[in-house]
Amino acid sequence: MFRLYGWLALIALTLCGCARPGGPASAPPSPSPASVPSPRVPSAGDSEPIRIGEYGSLTGSKATFGTSTRKGVDLAIEEINRAGGVLGRKLEVIVEDDQGKQEEANLAVSKLIERDNVVAVIGEVASSLSLAAAPICQTARIPMITPASTNPAVTQKGDYIFRICFIDPFQGTVMARFAHRTLKSRRAAILRDIRNDYSVGLADYFAQEFTRLGGAIVGDESYQENDTDFKAQLTSLRSKKPDALFIPGYYTEVGLICKQARELGLTCSFLGGDGWDSPQLAAIGGDAVEGGYFSNHYSVAEKRPEIARFVESFRARYSGETPEAMAALGYDAAKILADALARAGRAAPAALRAALAQTKGFRGVTGIITLDTDRNAVKPAVIVQMKQGQPRYVQSIAP
Ligand code: PHE
Repeated sequence: MFRLYGWLALIALTLCGCARPGGPASAPPSPSPASVPSPRVPSAGDSEPIRIGEYGSLTGSKATFGTSTRKGVDLAIEEINRAGGVLGRKLEVIVEDDQGKQEEANLAVSKLIERDNVVAVIGEVASSLSLAAAPICQTARIPMITPASTNPAVTQKGDYIFRICFIDPFQGTVMARFAHRTLKSRRAAILRDIRNDYSVGLADYFAQEFTRLGGAIVGDESYQENDTDFKAQLTSLRSKKPDALFIPGYYTEVGLICKQARELGLTCSFLGGDGWDSPQLAAIGGDAVEGGYFSNHYSVAEKRPEIARFVESFRARYSGETPEAMAALGYDAAKILADALARAGRAAPAALRAALAQTKGFRGVTGIITLDTDRNAVKPAVIVQMKQGQPRYVQSIAP
């Protein structure tokens, strides 16, 4: 066991091509006695809880992605356990904070698999982090379900990697059509996060469809996560006189970009994807994000009984908070996992993998979920518009 752990940790280090940085968050990969749960030997009639791992960014510039997913997963697990659990056992979630960093995501997943002996892993939200950790799950043959990673390459990492959301070729097309047909945009500019697989992919899919429709991409600039000054790129884009600016990034940078763009006098519409979804977007971007449109996985305003029920229990559980898309996706991911476990008939990774691949017509909060042969979900997207600091439902787009 220990040898395997070390081996996985080694893969993790090789995959990210770097040694772990020093600091308190980077204790040596060997499990310290204090953090090791008492050993257990699984058996057919095991009455111990079934362990599920979850890794996500609970801290850092993408922190709301992880914390929001957590709440959704927890709510689902509590409901499942209250109803008696699965296969006569309770579910237990073990959570690792990857701080939004690739090398931490690798370690998080290695720990969950080797130290905690989880039967499956839920995570990540950010595609680059799912891409980093998926090969570890695949090699260990532990199913990974990403609730929210939309880059197509994620599930191509292997047959143990699943997602319950749509993919970016669809999301990019939805936003390009909305820009061209609804907003009548003809000159779009793009500002992408160049080291973020999600951002780069989504920018490309948007550009492809927008030009196919006859529009022009008049400027295409880039930045990197944690940048705080975007004025050079925005000044250059301003000179191209765009009528729409597509910013397929995450909320922290997007909020700052919108702000600086308005300060520089850019008056065009701002558009983005699901990475905008955070209460922090309006907190950071203020008035500058008002009127901005983005695509997302669900809206609380959609009229479906699954949504009404979920939003009500979420608010009751989390002091009136309104769940973002990640919370809904985390909830759906945990429920789909439980459903597949029940169909598998035993808490064994290979049987669970086979059952997950058979997921059909699951009535989730974020839509009816059927996994295709590439282990992706085909589902509608919603477009929302920021109004008074809140995303307001505009329309749903079927695939
Ligand atoms: N789709 C984004 C990615 O793949 C993550 C995300 C999903 C962010 C949902 C916010 C809401 O990186």
